[in-house]
Amino acid sequence: MDMDFPHKQFQIRVLSCRDALKALKHDVLEGIISAPRSLPPKYFYDETGSRLFDAICKTRHYYLTRTESALLEKHSDDIMAAVQPRACVELGAGSSLKTEFLLSRLVAGSQQATYVPIDVCEEVLIESAGRLLHRYPQLHIEALAGEYLAAIRELPNLEGPVLFVFIGSSIGNFSASESMELLSRVAGIMAPGDAILLGVDRVKNKEVLEQAYDDDEGITAQFNLNVLNVLNTRLQGNFRLENFSHRAVYHETKEQIEMYLVAKQDQRVALEGLGESLQIQAGEAILTEISRKYTRTSIQRLLAGSGLAEHSHFVADDEYFSLVLAQAQE
Ligand code: TRP
Repeated sequence: MDMDFPHKQFQIRVLSCRDALKALKHDVLEGIISAPRSLPPKYFYDETGSRLFDAICKTRHYYLTRTESALLEKHSDDIMAAVQPRACVELGAGSSLKTEFLLSRLVAGSQQATYVPIDVCEEVLIESAGRLLHRYPQLHIEALAGEYLAAIRELPNLEGPVLFVFIGSSIGNFSASESMELLSRVAGIMAPGDAILLGVDRVKNKEVLEQAYDDDEGITAQFNLNVLNVLNTRLQGNFRLENFSHRAVYHETKEQIEMYLVAKQDQRVALEGLGESLQIQAGEAILTEISRKYTRTSIQRLLAGSGLAEHSHFVADDEYFSLVLAQAQE
């Protein structure tokens, strides 16, 4: 690999590329060939999608990143003192910007500090490793490019305690049963003394929530539409992005944001790589993402259903966002 940082400090493993195309074909066949249409959120994050997501995080309306960063800045010392980790494993690391609040303390507290960032986007993992090693030359990075469940099975041997990091409200992008399944898997590999730090977004005013998922610069719209580019590239499709519009709705009883791509006109789309085409009517919607919002009670339900017990709970003054530190139940 041609990189300008020491190989010994950085390794990346790319998990099962061949199967990834098979999985995509399966998800598209199941998901959007017939109504009601939906797609799993992981396909957002090609290189362009990952960059657009970073741009979303900086928008005025996306309060999540700002609020969570402030919580991390304020409480990282307490979190690291409670766990005293020698390694951090992060699910959905992206560009690892907020994680630096934890990593700076990780390297200060351990000679052999190891960081295992997991993300579906290989390019972002390589780029962030460059930045991190420049700032923290002692850090060992063992990145895994792939999906959460696959990566959890392939974790390197780590000296504990291990702090698992799952921030950014990413847990909210899974259904209730999927999120418990994922967290149970993590709880299942946690050794005594290990912990997980979860960043969860809270139930709040509908308008605030809807604006966070439909910023006025239109970046979230671009991000949502970009998933059609991903399908075009990977499955030789001919989706025309200008024929769809972005819509974000907060569903109050389900306590979730639902994000859609809505067809502006009747159209036929071919996906050559799949040997399929789809006929979409004007007004028809493809569900591209959910983002679940939590209350104190639903956080407790999530933890209990996943075999986790709360150790501490840090919440923003406006109760917009929570950081929860938890351990596997005895
Ligand atoms: N984990 C982020 C969230 O639920 C993901 C996200 C933010 C997102 N904005 C988005 C996903 C817009 C799709 C479209 O807040």
